[in-house]
Amino acid sequence: MATLVFVGGTGPEGIGLAMRFASVGEEVIIGSRRQDRAENTAREIKEKVPSANVRGLVNEEAVKESNLIFLTLPFEALEPFLKSSADMLSGKIVVDVVNPLKMENKVFITTPPEHGSAGEMIQALAPGSKVVCAFKNESVEDLEKVDKPLDSDVVICGSWDDAKEEVTKLIKKIPNLRPIDAGGLANSRVLEGITAMLLNINRRYKTTTSIKIMGI
Ligand SMILES: NC(=O)c1ccc[n+]([C@@H]2O[C@H](COP(=O)([O-])OP(=O)(O)OC[C@H]3O[C@@H](n4cnc5c(N)ncnc54)[C@H](OP(=O)(O)O)[C@@H]3O)[C@@H](O)[C@H]2O)c1
Repeated sequence: MATLVFVGGTGPEGIGLAMRFASVGEEVIIGSRRQDRAENTAREIKEKVPSANVRGLVNEEAVKESNLIFLTLPFEALEPFLKSSADMLSGKIVVDVVNPLKMENKVFITTPPEHGSAGEMIQALAPGSKVVCAFKNESVEDLEKVDKPLDSDVVICGSWDDAKEEVTKLIKKIPNLRPIDAGGLANSRVLEGITAMLLNINRRYKTTTSIKIMGI
């Protein structure tokens, strides 16, 4: 499997995913706007996962190192990043985990862009890339407890079957995670909505939740 690059990998989502993949033997690169932050995060991951094959690079250098790029940036950072780096993503699989959300009157709601969803926006702004939405419904609290097995389905969607196949293989490497292909990229609108719903449930029941699809 290719090296996995996490653009904006110094935040909790990038760190959680990078630790999970590093712990099953995947080589990971943490991307950041700053080399020192990338290296510090790589060091932190190595402390928690001693077997990790991990290093840190600035985002633009990190992207050059692989054809499998996770965008683990906040939604607001996507457009500026894609405007400057879309060409570099051409021909690459881009895994989109981004949820455009905000809290309004104590309720999490989605704040979709005009494209419909973060996933559709990424595909529109980086048209040469192959966007696969995944892990949008995985709680970071669960991801970062790297010694505790995960137990959920990872619903993915996207318009590129070959890219979804690669991401499916990757998800299967993490024990107990089951990839479910929901179909085309427009499903990302639903996935992003489900995250808002799960966060509201988490708040109501003071826990962390994820999803499983019945009947498959
Ligand atoms: N938290 C969750 O439970 C969860 C679950 C599923 C999906 N997600 C999604 O995962 C993504 C990342 O979440 P997170 O909580 O890890 O995000 P975050 O901590 O807010 O940001 C991740 C990294 O992005 C970089 N960054 C921040 N602002 C930026 C900007 N304006 N321009 C460029 N880079 C910027 C920072 O890295 P540097 O400063 O090092 O460059 C930061 O460490 C989000 O889109 C979120 O919706 C989160």
